[in-house]
Amino acid sequence: MAGKSSSKKTVAAKAKKVVKATKPAARSKTVDSGIKPAAPKAYAAVAVKDSRNGKNFELPILKGTVGPDVVDIRKLYGEQGLFTYDPGYGSTGSTQSSITYIDGDVGVLTHRGYKIEDLAENSDFMEVCYLLLEGELPNAKQKVEFEKNITYHTMLHEQIARFYQGFRRDAHPMAVMVSVVGALSAFYHDSTDIHDPRQRTIASHRLIAKVPTIAAMAYKYSIGQPFVYPKNELSYAENFLRMTFAVPAEEYKIDPVVAKAMDKIFILHADHEQNASTSTVRMAGSSGANPFACIAAGIACLWGPAHGGANEAVLKMLAEIGSTANIKDYIGKVKSKQDNTRLMGFGHRVYKNYDPRASVMRKSCHEVLDALGKRNDPLLQLAMELEKIALNDDYFISHKLYPNVDFYSGIILQAIGFPTSMFTVLFAVARTVGWVAQWKEMIEDPTQRIGRPRQLYTGYGERPYTPMNKRK
Ligand code: ACO
Repeated sequence: MAGKSSSKKTVAAKAKKVVKATKPAARSKTVDSGIKPAAPKAYAAVAVKDSRNGKNFELPILKGTVGPDVVDIRKLYGEQGLFTYDPGYGSTGSTQSSITYIDGDVGVLTHRGYKIEDLAENSDFMEVCYLLLEGELPNAKQKVEFEKNITYHTMLHEQIARFYQGFRRDAHPMAVMVSVVGALSAFYHDSTDIHDPRQRTIASHRLIAKVPTIAAMAYKYSIGQPFVYPKNELSYAENFLRMTFAVPAEEYKIDPVVAKAMDKIFILHADHEQNASTSTVRMAGSSGANPFACIAAGIACLWGPAHGGANEAVLKMLAEIGSTANIKDYIGKVKSKQDNTRLMGFGHRVYKNYDPRASVMRKSCHEVLDALGKRNDPLLQLAMELEKIALNDDYFISHKLYPNVDFYSGIILQAIGFPTSMFTVLFAVARTVGWVAQWKEMIEDPTQRIGRPRQLYTGYGERPYTPMNKRK
Protein backbone atom coordinates (compact mmCIF):
# COMPACT_ATOMS: atom_id res chain seq x y z
CA MET A 1 0.00 0.00 0.00
CA ALA A 2 2.86 2.34 0.99
CA GLY A 3 4.60 1.60 -2.30
CA LYS A 4 1.43 2.37 -4.20
CA SER A 5 0.95 5.78 -2.59
CA SER A 6 4.59 6.77 -3.05
CA SER A 7 4.47 5.81 -6.71
CA LYS A 8 1.26 7.85 -6.98
CA LYS A 9 3.15 10.80 -5.48
CA THR A 10 5.96 10.40 -7.99
CA VAL A 11 3.45 10.38 -10.84
CA ALA A 12 1.72 13.49 -9.47
CA ALA A 13 5.05 15.30 -9.03
CA LYS A 14 6.00 14.37 -12.58
CA ALA A 15 2.68 15.65 -13.92
CA LYS A 16 3.21 18.96 -12.13
CA LYS A 17 6.71 19.25 -13.55
CA VAL A 18 5.47 18.49 -17.06
CA VAL A 19 2.73 21.11 -16.95
CA LYS A 20 5.07 23.77 -15.52
CA ALA A 21 7.99 23.09 -17.81
CA THR A 22 6.40 24.38 -21.00
CA LYS A 23 8.81 27.12 -22.02
CA PRO A 24 9.83 26.40 -25.60
CA ALA A 25 13.37 26.48 -26.92
CA ALA A 26 14.52 29.69 -28.65
CA ARG A 27 12.78 29.98 -31.99
CA SER A 28 13.23 31.85 -35.18
CA LYS A 29 10.65 32.35 -37.91
CA THR A 30 11.13 30.66 -41.26
CA VAL A 31 9.89 32.29 -44.44
CA ASP A 32 6.57 30.48 -43.90
CA SER A 33 4.49 30.63 -40.75
CA GLY A 34 6.30 27.52 -39.51
CA ILE A 35 8.30 27.59 -36.33
CA LYS A 36 11.89 26.55 -36.49
CA PRO A 37 13.11 25.45 -33.07
CA ALA A 38 16.77 25.80 -32.22
CA ALA A 39 18.71 22.59 -32.82
CA PRO A 40 19.20 20.93 -29.44
CA LYS A 41 22.82 20.80 -28.27
CA ALA A 42 24.49 17.86 -26.59
CA TYR A 43 24.72 18.49 -22.84
CA ALA A 44 25.84 15.08 -21.63
CA ALA A 45 26.83 11.70 -23.03
CA VAL A 46 26.35 7.98 -22.50
CA ALA A 47 29.57 6.01 -22.35
CA VAL A 48 29.39 2.77 -24.31
CA LYS A 49 31.79 -0.13 -24.22
CA ASP A 50 31.72 -2.48 -27.23
CA SER A 51 32.29 -5.89 -25.65
CA ARG A 52 33.41 -7.35 -29.01
CA ASN A 53 36.60 -5.30 -29.13
CA GLY A 54 36.78 -3.44 -25.81
CA LYS A 55 36.43 -0.10 -27.64
CA ASN A 56 34.92 2.75 -25.62
CA PHE A 57 32.94 5.55 -27.22
CA GLU A 58 30.41 8.15 -26.24
CA LEU A 59 26.98 9.01 -27.57
CA PRO A 60 25.75 12.57 -27.02
CA ILE A 61 22.59 13.18 -24.98
CA LEU A 62 20.16 15.88 -26.17
CA LYS A 63 17.52 17.66 -24.13
CA GLY A 64 14.08 18.69 -25.36
CA THR A 65 11.80 21.23 -23.65
CA VAL A 66 10.18 18.46 -21.59
CA GLY A 67 10.18 14.69 -21.79
CA PRO A 68 12.92 12.08 -21.69
CA ASP A 69 16.37 13.07 -22.96
CA VAL A 70 17.41 11.38 -26.18
CA VAL A 71 20.63 9.63 -27.16
CA ASP A 72 21.89 11.01 -30.45
CA ILE A 73 22.90 8.04 -32.63
CA ARG A 74 23.21 9.90 -35.92
CA LYS A 75 26.94 9.20 -36.17
CA LEU A 76 26.77 5.67 -34.79
CA TYR A 77 27.01 3.87 -38.11
CA GLY A 78 29.55 6.24 -39.62
CA GLU A 79 31.89 6.08 -36.60
CA GLN A 80 31.20 2.65 -35.10
CA GLY A 81 29.69 0.63 -37.96
CA LEU A 82 26.61 -0.20 -35.86
CA PHE A 83 22.90 0.17 -36.49
CA THR A 84 20.29 0.25 -33.73
CA TYR A 85 17.42 -2.22 -33.56
CA ASP A 86 13.98 -1.04 -32.44
CA PRO A 87 11.07 -2.70 -34.24
CA GLY A 88 7.89 -0.70 -33.64
CA TYR A 89 10.09 2.30 -32.71
CA GLY A 90 9.29 1.99 -28.99
CA SER A 91 12.47 3.87 -28.00
CA THR A 92 13.26 5.78 -31.17
CA GLY A 93 12.74 9.49 -31.76
CA SER A 94 12.35 9.93 -35.50
CA THR A 95 12.28 13.71 -35.55
CA GLN A 96 12.53 16.96 -33.66
CA SER A 97 9.09 18.58 -33.31
CA SER A 98 7.48 21.50 -31.49
CA ILE A 99 3.83 20.72 -32.18
CA THR A 100 2.56 18.11 -29.72
CA TYR A 101 3.87 16.68 -26.47
CA ILE A 102 2.63 13.51 -24.75
CA ASP A 103 3.65 12.07 -21.41
CA GLY A 104 1.92 8.72 -21.48
CA ASP A 105 2.96 7.76 -17.94
CA VAL A 106 0.90 10.53 -16.40
CA GLY A 107 -1.66 11.00 -19.17
CA VAL A 108 -0.62 14.45 -20.43
CA LEU A 109 -1.24 15.72 -23.98
CA THR A 110 -0.43 19.28 -25.04
CA HIS A 111 -0.53 21.09 -28.38
CA ARG A 112 1.98 23.95 -28.62
CA GLY A 113 2.02 23.84 -24.81
CA TYR A 114 -1.75 23.99 -24.25
CA LYS A 115 -3.38 21.06 -22.46
CA ILE A 116 -5.90 19.11 -24.53
CA GLU A 117 -8.49 19.37 -21.73
CA ASP A 118 -8.24 23.20 -21.84
CA LEU A 119 -8.49 23.27 -25.62
CA ALA A 120 -11.50 20.93 -25.62
CA GLU A 121 -13.22 23.01 -22.96
CA ASN A 122 -12.47 26.55 -24.17
CA SER A 123 -11.51 26.44 -27.81
CA ASP A 124 -13.02 25.33 -31.11
CA PHE A 125 -11.65 23.20 -33.92
CA MET A 126 -10.72 26.09 -36.23
CA GLU A 127 -8.73 27.69 -33.42
CA VAL A 128 -6.94 24.41 -32.73
CA CYS A 129 -6.16 24.06 -36.45
CA TYR A 130 -4.60 27.53 -36.43
CA LEU A 131 -2.65 26.69 -33.29
CA LEU A 132 -1.25 23.48 -34.77
CA LEU A 133 -0.32 25.12 -38.07
CA GLU A 134 0.90 28.52 -36.87
CA GLY A 135 2.20 27.79 -33.38
CA GLU A 136 0.03 30.27 -31.46
CA LEU A 137 -3.68 30.73 -30.74
CA PRO A 138 -5.14 33.23 -33.23
CA ASN A 139 -6.24 36.71 -32.18
CA ALA A 140 -9.76 37.73 -33.29
CA LYS A 141 -8.59 39.12 -36.65
CA GLN A 142 -6.38 36.13 -37.40
CA LYS A 143 -9.24 33.76 -36.57
CA VAL A 144 -11.66 35.49 -38.96
CA GLU A 145 -9.02 35.49 -41.69
CA PHE A 146 -8.17 31.81 -41.13
CA GLU A 147 -11.81 30.72 -41.18
CA LYS A 148 -12.28 32.67 -44.38
CA ASN A 149 -9.30 30.93 -45.96
CA ILE A 150 -10.60 27.50 -44.97
CA THR A 151 -14.21 28.03 -46.02
CA TYR A 152 -13.01 29.44 -49.36
CA HIS A 153 -11.74 25.95 -50.19
CA THR A 154 -14.62 23.74 -48.99
CA MET A 155 -15.93 22.94 -52.47
CA LEU A 156 -14.45 20.27 -54.70
CA HIS A 157 -13.66 20.49 -58.38
CA GLU A 158 -16.91 19.34 -60.00
CA GLN A 159 -15.07 16.62 -61.91
CA ILE A 160 -14.27 14.93 -58.58
CA ALA A 161 -17.98 14.26 -58.02
CA ARG A 162 -17.86 12.08 -61.12
CA PHE A 163 -14.85 10.23 -59.74
CA TYR A 164 -17.22 8.77 -57.11
CA GLN A 165 -19.37 7.07 -59.74
CA GLY A 166 -16.51 4.65 -60.39
CA PHE A 167 -16.81 3.13 -56.91
CA ARG A 168 -19.17 0.34 -55.92
CA ARG A 169 -21.89 1.59 -53.60
CA ASP A 170 -20.70 -0.84 -50.92
CA ALA A 171 -17.09 0.41 -51.03
CA HIS A 172 -15.74 1.16 -47.54
CA PRO A 173 -15.70 4.96 -47.17
CA MET A 174 -12.05 4.77 -46.07
CA ALA A 175 -11.22 3.22 -49.45
CA VAL A 176 -12.97 6.20 -51.05
CA MET A 177 -11.10 8.64 -48.77
CA VAL A 178 -7.67 7.19 -49.64
CA SER A 179 -8.47 7.39 -53.34
CA VAL A 180 -10.14 10.80 -53.52
CA VAL A 181 -7.65 12.57 -51.23
CA GLY A 182 -4.79 11.09 -53.29
CA ALA A 183 -6.61 12.21 -56.45
CA LEU A 184 -6.64 15.85 -55.29
CA SER A 185 -3.07 16.03 -56.58
CA ALA A 186 -4.50 15.44 -60.06
CA PHE A 187 -6.78 18.48 -59.70
CA TYR A 188 -4.85 21.12 -57.77
CA HIS A 189 -1.54 21.37 -59.60
CA ASP A 190 -1.04 24.91 -58.35
CA SER A 191 -0.39 23.71 -54.80
CA THR A 192 1.89 20.72 -55.28
CA ASP A 193 5.25 22.53 -55.37
CA ILE A 194 6.47 21.70 -51.89
CA HIS A 195 9.36 24.17 -52.14
CA ASP A 196 7.02 27.16 -52.44
CA PRO A 197 5.78 28.29 -48.97
CA ARG A 198 2.67 29.89 -50.47
CA GLN A 199 1.73 26.64 -52.24
CA ARG A 200 2.36 24.68 -49.04
CA THR A 201 -0.06 26.95 -47.19
CA ILE A 202 -2.71 26.71 -49.90
CA ALA A 203 -2.40 22.91 -50.00
CA SER A 204 -2.75 22.82 -46.19
CA HIS A 205 -5.89 24.95 -46.28
CA ARG A 206 -7.32 22.97 -49.18
CA LEU A 207 -6.81 19.66 -47.39
CA ILE A 208 -8.40 20.83 -44.12
CA ALA A 209 -11.31 22.41 -46.01
CA LYS A 210 -11.99 19.60 -48.46
CA VAL A 211 -11.72 16.45 -46.30
CA PRO A 212 -15.17 16.96 -44.68
CA THR A 213 -16.72 17.46 -48.13
CA ILE A 214 -14.98 14.32 -49.44
CA ALA A 215 -16.02 12.32 -46.36
CA ALA A 216 -19.66 13.44 -46.47
CA MET A 217 -19.80 12.65 -50.20
CA ALA A 218 -18.42 9.15 -49.54
CA TYR A 219 -21.30 8.61 -47.10
CA LYS A 220 -23.94 10.05 -49.41
CA TYR A 221 -22.70 7.91 -52.28
CA SER A 222 -22.86 4.75 -50.14
CA ILE A 223 -26.53 5.33 -49.28
CA GLY A 224 -27.58 6.56 -52.73
CA GLN A 225 -28.47 10.12 -51.67
CA PRO A 226 -27.47 13.24 -53.61
CA PHE A 227 -24.35 15.10 -52.55
CA VAL A 228 -24.99 18.15 -50.37
CA TYR A 229 -22.75 21.11 -51.17
CA PRO A 230 -20.96 22.96 -48.35
CA LYS A 231 -22.53 26.04 -46.78
CA ASN A 232 -19.80 28.40 -45.69
CA GLU A 233 -21.79 30.40 -43.14
CA LEU A 234 -21.81 27.32 -40.89
CA SER A 235 -19.03 26.27 -38.56
CA TYR A 236 -16.70 23.45 -39.63
CA ALA A 237 -18.59 20.86 -37.54
CA GLU A 238 -22.04 22.17 -38.47
CA ASN A 239 -21.18 22.17 -42.14
CA PHE A 240 -19.95 18.59 -41.93
CA LEU A 241 -23.12 17.43 -40.15
CA ARG A 242 -25.27 19.17 -42.74
CA MET A 243 -23.36 17.74 -45.72
CA THR A 244 -23.70 14.28 -44.14
CA PHE A 245 -27.29 14.26 -42.94
CA ALA A 246 -29.25 16.88 -44.91
CA VAL A 247 -31.41 15.94 -47.90
CA PRO A 248 -32.68 18.40 -50.51
CA ALA A 249 -36.30 17.55 -49.68
CA GLU A 250 -36.20 18.90 -46.12
CA GLU A 251 -34.77 21.72 -44.05
CA TYR A 252 -31.90 20.39 -41.91
CA LYS A 253 -31.88 21.60 -38.30
CA ILE A 254 -28.55 21.45 -36.52
CA ASP A 255 -28.68 20.28 -32.92
CA PRO A 256 -26.23 22.56 -31.03
CA VAL A 257 -25.30 19.79 -28.54
CA VAL A 258 -24.45 17.45 -31.41
CA ALA A 259 -22.51 20.17 -33.26
CA LYS A 260 -20.52 20.95 -30.09
CA ALA A 261 -19.79 17.25 -29.54
CA MET A 262 -18.70 16.90 -33.17
CA ASP A 263 -16.36 19.89 -32.79
CA LYS A 264 -14.93 18.35 -29.61
CA ILE A 265 -14.36 15.03 -31.38
CA PHE A 266 -12.44 16.93 -34.06
CA ILE A 267 -10.34 18.76 -31.43
CA LEU A 268 -9.55 15.55 -29.55
CA HIS A 269 -8.35 13.80 -32.71
CA ALA A 270 -6.51 16.76 -34.28
CA ASP A 271 -2.95 15.64 -33.62
CA HIS A 272 -1.12 13.03 -31.61
CA GLU A 273 2.61 13.44 -32.08
CA GLN A 274 4.58 10.80 -34.04
CA ASN A 275 1.93 8.05 -34.20
CA ALA A 276 1.81 5.48 -37.03
CA SER A 277 -0.19 7.55 -39.53
CA THR A 278 1.69 10.78 -38.82
CA SER A 279 5.01 9.00 -39.19
CA THR A 280 3.67 7.56 -42.46
CA VAL A 281 2.84 11.08 -43.68
CA ARG A 282 6.31 12.30 -42.70
CA MET A 283 7.96 9.28 -44.32
CA ALA A 284 6.00 9.74 -47.56
CA GLY A 285 6.72 13.48 -47.49
CA SER A 286 10.43 12.95 -46.87
CA SER A 287 10.82 11.78 -50.47
CA GLY A 288 9.39 15.08 -51.71
CA ALA A 289 5.97 13.61 -52.58
CA ASN A 290 3.16 16.16 -52.89
CA PRO A 291 1.02 16.88 -49.78
CA PHE A 292 -2.18 15.31 -51.15
CA ALA A 293 -0.36 12.02 -51.79
CA CYS A 294 1.23 12.18 -48.31
CA ILE A 295 -2.09 12.70 -46.54
CA ALA A 296 -3.61 9.83 -48.57
CA ALA A 297 -0.77 7.65 -47.22
CA GLY A 298 -1.66 8.76 -43.68
CA ILE A 299 -5.32 7.87 -44.25
CA ALA A 300 -4.30 4.40 -45.46
CA CYS A 301 -2.28 3.82 -42.31
CA LEU A 302 -5.02 5.18 -40.04
CA TRP A 303 -7.48 2.64 -41.45
CA GLY A 304 -6.00 -0.31 -39.49
CA PRO A 305 -7.87 -1.57 -36.38
CA ALA A 306 -4.81 -1.06 -34.17
CA HIS A 307 -4.94 2.67 -34.99
CA GLY A 308 -7.90 4.71 -36.26
CA GLY A 309 -9.98 1.65 -37.04
CA ALA A 310 -10.32 0.98 -33.31
CA ASN A 311 -13.52 3.02 -32.79
CA GLU A 312 -15.25 0.88 -35.41
CA ALA A 313 -13.78 -2.23 -33.76
CA VAL A 314 -15.13 -1.13 -30.34
CA LEU A 315 -18.69 -1.09 -31.67
CA LYS A 316 -18.22 -4.46 -33.34
CA MET A 317 -16.88 -5.83 -30.05
CA LEU A 318 -19.82 -4.41 -28.05
CA ALA A 319 -22.22 -5.99 -30.56
CA GLU A 320 -20.39 -9.30 -30.21
CA ILE A 321 -20.58 -9.19 -26.41
CA GLY A 322 -24.28 -8.39 -26.75
CA SER A 323 -25.23 -7.93 -23.08
CA THR A 324 -23.68 -7.30 -19.66
CA ALA A 325 -24.27 -10.96 -18.79
CA ASN A 326 -21.62 -11.93 -21.37
CA ILE A 327 -18.89 -9.52 -20.24
CA LYS A 328 -17.24 -11.98 -17.88
CA ASP A 329 -16.84 -14.58 -20.62
CA TYR A 330 -15.49 -11.99 -23.03
CA ILE A 331 -12.96 -10.69 -20.51
CA GLY A 332 -11.89 -14.30 -19.91
CA LYS A 333 -11.30 -14.71 -23.66
CA VAL A 334 -9.21 -11.52 -23.71
CA LYS A 335 -7.13 -12.55 -20.70
CA SER A 336 -6.43 -16.02 -22.06
CA LYS A 337 -5.56 -14.37 -25.41
CA GLN A 338 -7.98 -16.77 -27.11
CA ASP A 339 -7.87 -16.07 -30.87
CA ASN A 340 -5.72 -13.01 -30.02
CA THR A 341 -8.86 -11.31 -28.69
CA ARG A 342 -8.20 -7.81 -27.35
CA LEU A 343 -10.41 -5.41 -25.52
CA MET A 344 -10.81 -2.85 -28.27
CA GLY A 345 -10.61 0.77 -27.16
CA PHE A 346 -8.25 -0.22 -24.36
CA GLY A 347 -4.50 0.16 -24.27
CA HIS A 348 -2.16 2.51 -26.03
CA ARG A 349 1.47 2.41 -27.07
CA VAL A 350 2.21 5.67 -25.28
CA TYR A 351 -0.46 6.08 -22.56
CA LYS A 352 0.18 3.82 -19.63
CA ASN A 353 -2.37 5.87 -17.69
CA TYR A 354 -5.83 7.22 -18.54
CA ASP A 355 -5.79 8.80 -22.01
CA PRO A 356 -6.64 12.48 -21.25
CA ARG A 357 -8.76 12.58 -24.40
CA ALA A 358 -10.80 9.63 -23.12
CA SER A 359 -11.83 11.59 -19.99
CA VAL A 360 -13.15 14.47 -22.13
CA MET A 361 -14.81 12.05 -24.54
CA ARG A 362 -16.45 10.13 -21.69
CA LYS A 363 -18.06 13.36 -20.40
CA SER A 364 -19.12 14.40 -23.89
CA CYS A 365 -20.57 10.93 -24.48
CA HIS A 366 -22.89 11.33 -21.49
CA GLU A 367 -23.89 14.88 -22.57
CA VAL A 368 -24.78 13.77 -26.10
CA LEU A 369 -26.74 10.71 -25.00
CA ASP A 370 -28.63 12.85 -22.46
CA ALA A 371 -29.43 15.49 -25.08
CA LEU A 372 -30.60 12.84 -27.54
CA GLY A 373 -32.66 11.06 -24.89
CA LYS A 374 -30.47 7.97 -25.16
CA ARG A 375 -29.19 7.87 -21.58
CA ASN A 376 -30.42 4.28 -21.21
CA ASP A 377 -28.88 3.22 -24.48
CA PRO A 378 -27.98 -0.47 -23.95
CA LEU A 379 -24.69 0.03 -25.75
CA LEU A 380 -23.65 2.76 -23.31
CA GLN A 381 -24.73 0.63 -20.35
CA LEU A 382 -22.67 -2.24 -21.72
CA ALA A 383 -19.65 0.00 -22.34
CA MET A 384 -19.80 1.49 -18.81
CA GLU A 385 -20.03 -1.95 -17.23
CA LEU A 386 -17.17 -3.24 -19.37
CA GLU A 387 -15.04 -0.25 -18.43
CA LYS A 388 -15.77 -0.76 -14.71
CA ILE A 389 -14.91 -4.45 -14.79
CA ALA A 390 -11.75 -3.96 -16.84
CA LEU A 391 -10.45 -1.10 -14.68
CA ASN A 392 -10.71 -3.33 -11.61
CA ASP A 393 -9.25 -6.44 -13.14
CA ASP A 394 -5.66 -7.44 -12.32
CA TYR A 395 -4.83 -8.28 -15.94
CA PHE A 396 -5.69 -4.77 -17.17
CA ILE A 397 -4.16 -3.08 -14.13
CA SER A 398 -0.87 -4.98 -14.41
CA HIS A 399 -0.70 -4.42 -18.18
CA LYS A 400 -1.52 -0.70 -17.66
CA LEU A 401 -4.46 -0.92 -20.03
CA TYR A 402 -6.83 2.04 -19.72
CA PRO A 403 -9.63 3.18 -22.04
CA ASN A 404 -8.34 5.18 -24.98
CA VAL A 405 -10.17 7.91 -26.92
CA ASP A 406 -11.80 5.40 -29.24
CA PHE A 407 -13.63 3.58 -26.49
CA TYR A 408 -16.19 6.40 -26.20
CA SER A 409 -16.03 8.13 -29.58
CA GLY A 410 -17.77 5.21 -31.31
CA ILE A 411 -20.71 5.38 -28.90
CA ILE A 412 -21.18 9.13 -29.49
CA LEU A 413 -20.87 8.77 -33.23
CA GLN A 414 -23.41 5.98 -33.33
CA ALA A 415 -25.83 8.04 -31.22
CA ILE A 416 -25.44 10.95 -33.66
CA GLY A 417 -26.38 8.61 -36.49
CA PHE A 418 -23.10 7.72 -38.20
CA PRO A 419 -22.74 4.14 -39.41
CA THR A 420 -19.69 2.35 -38.00
CA SER A 421 -17.98 2.40 -41.39
CA MET A 422 -17.77 6.22 -41.09
CA PHE A 423 -16.03 6.30 -37.70
CA THR A 424 -12.48 6.07 -38.99
CA VAL A 425 -13.38 8.53 -41.72
CA LEU A 426 -14.28 11.10 -39.05
CA PHE A 427 -10.96 10.45 -37.36
CA ALA A 428 -9.25 11.10 -40.71
CA VAL A 429 -11.17 14.37 -41.15
CA ALA A 430 -10.00 15.58 -37.74
CA ARG A 431 -6.42 14.31 -38.05
CA THR A 432 -5.81 15.93 -41.42
CA VAL A 433 -4.74 19.17 -39.70
CA GLY A 434 -2.24 17.28 -37.53
CA TRP A 435 -0.80 15.47 -40.54
CA VAL A 436 -0.56 18.72 -42.47
CA ALA A 437 1.10 20.58 -39.58
CA GLN A 438 3.64 17.78 -39.10
CA TRP A 439 4.27 17.54 -42.85
CA LYS A 440 4.88 21.31 -43.05
CA GLU A 441 7.19 21.20 -40.05
CA MET A 442 9.21 18.46 -41.72
CA ILE A 443 9.45 20.23 -45.07
CA GLU A 444 10.53 23.47 -43.34
CA ASP A 445 13.22 21.70 -41.29
CA PRO A 446 16.56 22.38 -43.03
CA THR A 447 18.05 19.15 -41.63
CA GLN A 448 15.29 17.03 -43.18
CA ARG A 449 16.46 13.97 -45.16
CA ILE A 450 14.58 11.14 -46.80
CA GLY A 451 13.41 8.64 -44.17
CA ARG A 452 15.30 5.41 -44.68
CA PRO A 453 15.46 2.96 -41.75
CA ARG A 454 18.03 0.19 -41.54
CA GLN A 455 17.45 -3.46 -40.67
CA LEU A 456 18.85 -6.46 -38.89
CA TYR A 457 19.13 -8.86 -41.81
CA THR A 458 18.41 -12.50 -40.88
CA GLY A 459 17.96 -14.05 -44.34
CA TYR A 460 20.37 -16.17 -46.39
CA GLY A 461 23.93 -15.11 -47.04
CA GLU A 462 24.95 -14.93 -50.68
CA ARG A 463 24.38 -18.21 -52.57
CA PRO A 464 24.61 -19.37 -56.19
CA TYR A 465 21.55 -19.04 -58.44
CA THR A 466 19.52 -22.29 -58.55
CA PRO A 467 18.42 -23.30 -62.07
CA MET A 468 14.75 -24.35 -62.44
CA ASN A 469 15.53 -28.07 -62.87
CA LYS A 470 17.41 -28.12 -59.54
CA ARG A 471 14.64 -26.43 -57.48
CA LYS A 472 12.51 -28.50 -55.10
N1 ACO B 1 -6.63 -5.97 -24.66
C1 ACO B 1 -5.98 -6.97 -24.05
N2 ACO B 1 -4.65 -7.04 -23.90
C2 ACO B 1 -3.93 -6.04 -24.44
C3 ACO B 1 -4.54 -4.95 -25.10
C4 ACO B 1 -5.94 -4.94 -25.19
N3 ACO B 1 -6.58 -3.93 -25.80
N4 ACO B 1 -3.58 -4.09 -25.51
C5 ACO B 1 -2.41 -4.61 -25.14
N5 ACO B 1 -2.63 -5.80 -24.49
C6 ACO B 1 -1.60 -6.66 -23.87
C7 ACO B 1 -0.90 -7.52 -24.92
O1 ACO B 1 -1.55 -8.76 -25.10
C8 ACO B 1 0.46 -7.66 -24.29
O2 ACO B 1 0.34 -8.61 -23.26
P1 ACO B 1 1.59 -9.56 -22.83
O3 ACO B 1 2.69 -8.63 -22.39
O4 ACO B 1 1.02 -10.37 -21.71
O5 ACO B 1 1.94 -10.35 -24.05
C9 ACO B 1 0.70 -6.30 -23.64
O6 ACO B 1 -0.61 -5.80 -23.34
C10 ACO B 1 1.43 -5.30 -24.54
O7 ACO B 1 0.78 -5.28 -25.79
P2 ACO B 1 1.44 -4.69 -27.10
O8 ACO B 1 0.63 -5.13 -28.29
O9 ACO B 1 2.90 -4.99 -27.10
O10 ACO B 1 1.25 -3.15 -26.86
P3 ACO B 1 1.42 -2.04 -27.92
O11 ACO B 1 1.88 -0.85 -27.21
O12 ACO B 1 2.24 -2.50 -29.08
O13 ACO B 1 -0.08 -1.88 -28.48
C11 ACO B 1 -2.20 -1.06 -29.01
C12 ACO B 1 -0.84 -0.75 -28.37
C13 ACO B 1 -1.99 -1.54 -30.46
C14 ACO B 1 -3.04 0.21 -29.06
C15 ACO B 1 -2.91 -2.17 -28.18
O14 ACO B 1 -3.09 -1.74 -26.85
C16 ACO B 1 -4.25 -2.60 -28.79
O15 ACO B 1 -4.25 -3.45 -29.68
N6 ACO B 1 -5.38 -2.01 -28.32
C17 ACO B 1 -6.67 -2.29 -28.87
C18 ACO B 1 -6.86 -1.49 -30.15
C19 ACO B 1 -7.11 -0.03 -29.86
O16 ACO B 1 -7.93 0.33 -29.03
N7 ACO B 1 -6.38 0.82 -30.62
C20 ACO B 1 -6.57 2.29 -30.51
C21 ACO B 1 -5.30 2.94 -30.14
S1 ACO B 1 -5.58 4.64 -29.86
C22 ACO B 1 -5.62 5.35 -31.37
O17 ACO B 1 -5.08 4.93 -32.34
C23 ACO B 1 -6.38 6.56 -31.42
